Amino acid sequence: MVITKICCIGAGYVGGPTCSVIALKCPNIRVTVVDLSVERISQWNSDKLPIYEPGLDDVVKKCRNINLFFSNDIETAIDEAELIFISVNTPTKTFGNGRGRAADLKYVESAARMIAKVARSNKIVVEKSTVPVRAAESIMHILGANQKMDVKYEILSNPEFLAEGTAIDDLLNADRILIGGECTETGSNAIEELSWVYQHWIPKERILTTNTWSSELSKLAANAFLAQRISSINSLSAVCEATGADVTEVAKAVGLDSRIGSKFLQASIGFGGSCFQKDILNLVYICEGLNLPEVAAYWQQVIDMNEYQKMRFSQKIIECLFNTVSDKRITIFGFAFKKNTGDTRETPAITVCKTLLEEGAKLNIYDPKVDHQQILEDLTHPSVTDSPEYVRKAIDIFDNAYDAVKDTYAIVLCTEWDEFVELDYRAIYSKMMKPAYIFDGRKILKHKELQEIGFHVQTIGRKLNRTGLLRSWATQQ
Ligand code: UDX
Ligand code: ADP
Repeated sequence: MVITKICCIGAGYVGGPTCSVIALKCPNIRVTVVDLSVERISQWNSDKLPIYEPGLDDVVKKCRNINLFFSNDIETAIDEAELIFISVNTPTKTFGNGRGRAADLKYVESAARMIAKVARSNKIVVEKSTVPVRAAESIMHILGANQKMDVKYEILSNPEFLAEGTAIDDLLNADRILIGGECTETGSNAIEELSWVYQHWIPKERILTTNTWSSELSKLAANAFLAQRISSINSLSAVCEATGADVTEVAKAVGLDSRIGSKFLQASIGFGGSCFQKDILNLVYICEGLNLPEVAAYWQQVIDMNEYQKMRFSQKIIECLFNTVSDKRITIFGFAFKKNTGDTRETPAITVCKTLLEEGAKLNIYDPKVDHQQILEDLTHPSVTDSPEYVRKAIDIFDNAYDAVKDTYAIVLCTEWDEFVELDYRAIYSKMMKPAYIFDGRKILKHKELQEIGFHVQTIGRKLNRTGLLRSWATQQ
């Protein structure tokens, strides 16, 4: 089979950028990205794409309506394609068995059923969404049970490792491409076909092939390892604050060991995003189901530490503001789960805002890329409040940082947007109530300069006093 047409089911954060890059690098392949949502597809076809991702606009502009198409006509795209990516969402279940932990596979299942209904020729079906181990088996089962006489399917696992904010670069220069498939002749052929697509721009030696389950588990494992590093350094940030050690110095010293490496050792208010928490919860759930309680407890601790870090930071704000934030107006800088994205899924900012709102604070929120409506939806969600009316009255959302600080008691920096580093903090100080506080949840601001202006500064993993940094435990005694 020669791949000439690819269909991608799901035009989200994974499907959209991935297929845009495939279209860019494979001009002879016609790539159609389909979605149930009419609004999403019309945004992909407009000048304002539904997701903010540096470099994505350029790639889409180069290929759209040439060999890259966005459409709601799911059936035609499935029918025509030789290779189909399933890139639908796999959120954590909110009800029933496995609630709060297991991945909800209903979207994957409905995509598989749609393929079974429509397909009239052989298809390679590629699971790109992060799924629990053995999900490919379920897809196979659905396709097999609905198989038309002469249609054959090969199911591959090809997890996506892109990170939001750097998606285009991650796709263009992937560390590795992982393809899992069945150890049969037809399975190997399907792996070869998909591998050929990537070989348009990824060197062959970076394309790793495994059995299906190894591929599925590797994706969960990679995210679990990355999150574990963040929880590890965050746990030490608490020790630093209590002793006078500086977590940045500790991370540097530890990371210079080439066996450990320096990446993903940035202490923060906690990790967010659609993947880390979801995938670890999923891993924990699988381990429990496999009667491996010790393994489940081990990974659960990574999540627990993240919750602790988010709460610890929120509590610190309240303690510093004289143990009460009731009726105090506080500025939130950044709402996205990291910089260079407008995505708010599992953002630690929600936990911080929720805690402050519960304590009676009023919030002025500013984020350079998150839609106002998204912030409102997140903070009035039933998991955050049982009084959405109250929240609506207690928050104001702004279009720039300077308007957001007027008459507020504190700035709480939740997202590490570059623009926050270069703001005119003298002007900001003059607009705020005194004493004016800054809580830097990302360790990005120039703390000494802020202190010289007059701010009281608190950050993660480093104890600051009024005269500057306390360099060591000894100097505090
Ligand atoms: C992650 C994985 O990196 C990616 O490979 C996978 O495909 C999807 O999940 P993503 O969630 O988009 O990507 O972003 P990532 O850069 O991993 O950041 C996740 C969270 O961890 C963010 O909230 C970020 O601020 C936080 N983080 C990251 C830290 O707190 N410290 C760090 O050192 C790194
Ligand atoms: P991810 O971050 O995994 O890409 P998103 O939520 O951003 O997740 O995107 C998933 C997309 O999949 C959504 O736009 C959703 O509308 C779409 N989707 C879910 N189920 C189906 C389906 N059966 N057919 C087509 N699109 C679907």
